[in-house]
Amino acid sequence: MEMDYENRVVSTEYLPEDEGDNPLRPKTLSEYIGQAKVKENLSVYIDAAKIRGEALDHVLLYGPPGLGKTTLSQIIAGEMGVNIRITSGPALERPGDLAALLTNLDSGDVLFIDEIHRLPRTVEEILYPAMEDFAIDIINGKGQGAASIHLPLPRFTLIGATTRAGQLSAPLRDRFGVVLRLELYTPEELGQIVSRSAKILDIPCDEDGTIEIASRARGTPRIANRLLKRVRDFAQVMNGGVITADAARRALDRMEVDELGLDMVDRRMLEAMIKHYNGGPVGLDTVAAVIGEESVTIEDVYEPYLMQLGFLSRTPRGRVVLPAAYEHLGIDYTGQLTL
Ligand code: ADE
Repeated sequence: MEMDYENRVVSTEYLPEDEGDNPLRPKTLSEYIGQAKVKENLSVYIDAAKIRGEALDHVLLYGPPGLGKTTLSQIIAGEMGVNIRITSGPALERPGDLAALLTNLDSGDVLFIDEIHRLPRTVEEILYPAMEDFAIDIINGKGQGAASIHLPLPRFTLIGATTRAGQLSAPLRDRFGVVLRLELYTPEELGQIVSRSAKILDIPCDEDGTIEIASRARGTPRIANRLLKRVRDFAQVMNGGVITADAARRALDRMEVDELGLDMVDRRMLEAMIKHYNGGPVGLDTVAAVIGEESVTIEDVYEPYLMQLGFLSRTPRGRVVLPAAYEHLGIDYTGQLTL
């Protein structure tokens, strides 16, 4: 069966509907819900940099998609009182693309590079001296007539975001003074986010409706906000516009998002591992082949939530489906657990 993975309602992909002048994005650290440790440390670094009148050290944000890395960067720039320029690793194809951005920054500005692990090597190489010495050397011309131009840059803050810190080269990783890992949100935190979003969007949603949406949002605010909008559609057509627990449940069932937020892809993946491999251990590449998805997507997008649920374990010998997943899927657990 062919699945349209990118169009899952529980996709963490950033979709056009998430875009726009998103009124749901918090603008200050105090408005930002969850990630307590990250917020506490960041606010110290921000205050200290402001006291010294300096640019904030370079920051690396990593963790699963949809947790608010871009939002957090915008908040950091806002709290520092500086401008932010937003780009991404794949968008910076040539060194000149990065040079153009860097030379247009004002002192203290934030340059945000999303998916920084996908920066081309040639671009990454000019980022090193930019981060460390606040200068770049650009080669002008070719062959004998080539001349190197030394361009000083303003002191700026690079914020890099990645789903996979392990894939960054050591020299790049080592140049970040601050490394922060974002975690999946708890259902309680997601509940607060859904409740805040419902207020902003003027959607009537009672507390049980909020909990129902939050508990199916896979620890991810981007998904929670998307589910809220889709559930509103169902509620408007079928429930007079009010999101109650029952309305939310019916809507989410129609979207095939189960009580824990698993969709067809998750269930198919777990069931295939159970039926064909006795629950594992199964190699990542085998899992990928079985569900027709790339290994990196499985690691970044599917597994973090399944591991948070205690449904899946990564072991040196491969992936293992845990008893809790059998129970959720209604399959008898017979396997010998080999962890
Ligand atoms: N919207 C998305 N992420 C959020 C967060 N962490 N806090 C508040 N609103 C959000």
